[in-house]
Amino acid sequence: MALRFEVLGRFNHARAAQLTLPHFVCQTPLFMPVGTQGTIKGLTTNQLEEIGCQIILGNTYHLALRPTSELIDELGGLHKFMNWPRALLTDSGGFQMVSLLHLADITEKGVTFQSPVDGKQMLLTPEESIQIQNRIGADIIMALDDVVKTTITGPRIEEAMYRTLRWMDRCIAAHKRPHEQNLFGIVQGGLDPVLRDICVRGLVDRNLPGYAIGGLAGGEDKDSFWRVVAQCTAALPEDKPRYVMGVGYPLDVVVCSALGADMYDCVYPTRTARFGTALVPEGVLKLKQRAMAEDTRPIDPTCACMVCKNYTRAYIHSLVAKDAMGSQLLSYHNLYYMMQLSRNLHSSMVQGRFPEFVCSFLQKMFPKGD
Ligand code: GUN
Ligand code: ZN
Repeated sequence: MALRFEVLGRFNHARAAQLTLPHFVCQTPLFMPVGTQGTIKGLTTNQLEEIGCQIILGNTYHLALRPTSELIDELGGLHKFMNWPRALLTDSGGFQMVSLLHLADITEKGVTFQSPVDGKQMLLTPEESIQIQNRIGADIIMALDDVVKTTITGPRIEEAMYRTLRWMDRCIAAHKRPHEQNLFGIVQGGLDPVLRDICVRGLVDRNLPGYAIGGLAGGEDKDSFWRVVAQCTAALPEDKPRYVMGVGYPLDVVVCSALGADMYDCVYPTRTARFGTALVPEGVLKLKQRAMAEDTRPIDPTCACMVCKNYTRAYIHSLVAKDAMGSQLLSYHNLYYMMQLSRNLHSSMVQGRFPEFVCSFLQKMFPKGD
């Protein structure tokens, strides 16, 4: 195991912790921005440090295709390659293939897909996913899982859950750097509490350094989503980090943290920035709207970020969809918002005022109480 997880504060199921990884000491709850080709679109690694980003996510699938894991390994690993001294996490690749490529086909061997680079038929096995992630060198690596949409029902959900457990053993056997990299397991099982329970128990028996809750945020209703998170966090060990994959709406981060989750990742804050949307305490602010054209206020007058200190809504309105700087400034603000939200969740728990923080967060977002 290459991590330490120390709980510093609690409120009911929620916890604030210090997560010590090989490259950085992180405070949880934490949000991980998503990079694809070894970059968070629109931000430099210096800017990521400036906003207090502790760990970022890279995708095995994208990095393996280009620049390739062999080259990253040869050049000293992804930290060095992208000049990011803090923590990194890589996802195993299966989910990206299934969600990005409709041609991906899952068998017991692994995920078969057609390479978007040269059109060749390729196979990603659990062993290969781990070998690639060992070369990339992230602080946390993810097991290859069989992911199905939560909106699907029937025996496919059960098959995927059991296959995820079988692949887990193949990933554990293939992992060559357990003292430098932490291999997390992923709980699958759709919306079925019996299947989720079997999967959690199976993974906990394998005594992994951390656990992720997967297969969510794919179109199911909020009530089912939060119910699965609550069930899984309640059954996972107290002394290990819990990561809800693909979650990144501010409200979901707050609710899942209250339910005892510690880590999140999502493209939402940067993707929505590229569509001209800013995250603000009231919800969202759409900078493309005509009303912004002569608005001389910052995006969020209560935000302390570089963008809100220096630029007006009118200026950003004039840039969005016209110049890359528009989405860069919005991405910077949106990620700062997520980092500030993570810091507030952490400090409010440590200081024993978590319920007050959650109430004030909800009141700003839902002023009419709806
Ligand atoms: N990203 C979002 N959801 C998932 C999931 O269920 N599995 C993996 N590997 N990545 C994800
Ligand atoms: Zn700001």
